[in-house]
Amino acid sequence: MSKVLILPGDGIGKEIVNQALKVINYLNQYQALEMELVHGLIGGSAYDKTGNPLPDKTIDDAKQCDSILLGAVGGYKWESLARELRPEKGLLGIRSQMDLFANIRPAILYSTLADSSTLKKEIVAGLDIIIVRELVAGIYFGKPRGIKQDNNQRYGFNTATYSESEIRRIGHSAFKIARLRNKNVCSVDKANVLEVCELWREVMTEVAKDYPDVKLSHMYVDNAAMQLVRQPKQFDVIVTSNLFGDILSDCAAMLTGSIGMLPSASINEDGFGMYEPIHGAAPDIAGKDIANPLATILSVAMMLRYSLNNSLLADKIEKAVEDVLEQGYRTKDIATSKDKIIGTNEMGDLVVESLKSNQ
Ligand code: IPM
Ligand code: MG
Repeated sequence: MSKVLILPGDGIGKEIVNQALKVINYLNQYQALEMELVHGLIGGSAYDKTGNPLPDKTIDDAKQCDSILLGAVGGYKWESLARELRPEKGLLGIRSQMDLFANIRPAILYSTLADSSTLKKEIVAGLDIIIVRELVAGIYFGKPRGIKQDNNQRYGFNTATYSESEIRRIGHSAFKIARLRNKNVCSVDKANVLEVCELWREVMTEVAKDYPDVKLSHMYVDNAAMQLVRQPKQFDVIVTSNLFGDILSDCAAMLTGSIGMLPSASINEDGFGMYEPIHGAAPDIAGKDIANPLATILSVAMMLRYSLNNSLLADKIEKAVEDVLEQGYRTKDIATSKDKIIGTNEMGDLVVESLKSNQ
């Protein structure tokens, strides 16, 4: 028996999470999943109902659960609010309060989707890399921060900080993941300019000593951005800081042609995880039944694998998704001219159908 907090959030969040719920309900009913669901609020929709993008109740509920499934947060509607009240603050707050320091973002190219990438097929075919992004420290959270008046003008400032222990724990996460894969970790920094990255590099090198079977290399972030589009298959696991990971993971996701396909996990020391699609709330397409729900459905698979110890059902979900793609069904974002274009709801239904026929 596991207990999962469902946080649809904003924009397309609700409709894509609804498709994941179809999958969970099916598995509960027919495959003995026994997942209990608790429903909660986060982001702009939480602000609208409670005046807070991260209500205390959401954190209290999270602490009673084994995992979280999140849709997405954000939207034009809330962009002019004070920073403390914006939807993104809810997301950053829950990451920080649950200490979800290890953000795992895979970029996998499904063979059936090789034509969706904007890059040449031979550059991306078979791509399978993982970005391990530090998620609760660095410049996102460093203090002091703010905008101040100085003489005749305003100036803005943030602080990029990392303690040794913060670097060490994300290093261990990356090496452990690499051990289960091709045993290569590339640590990305800007140590030629920033002291915080000089320390990052030193600590990563120390951590590597515990993993003699894994090869560690270092790369500057500007070069990493270039290498990701030049020859992405050279990477296995990339470990990097919060801000660099934010940027590089969007880049890596797009190599696969559809950010709508990729799930992610954010995990703390106890294995508690928050699972969410990599993409955002896409307010421009919300409510139109065109959003791709597969990243959210695949986030359920990732949850089963990483937090709930049920790789059997995780495999089944992934297989069901692959089968539906194999049959030529696509939401608009990943469709080419020869595909059958379907909506969000139908995609959810087809994944459930496919689970039924594979059982
Ligand atoms: C992400 C997003 C968030 C981030 C935003 C929405 C605060 O871009 O999860 O990558 O910057 O971490
Ligand atoms: Mg981002």
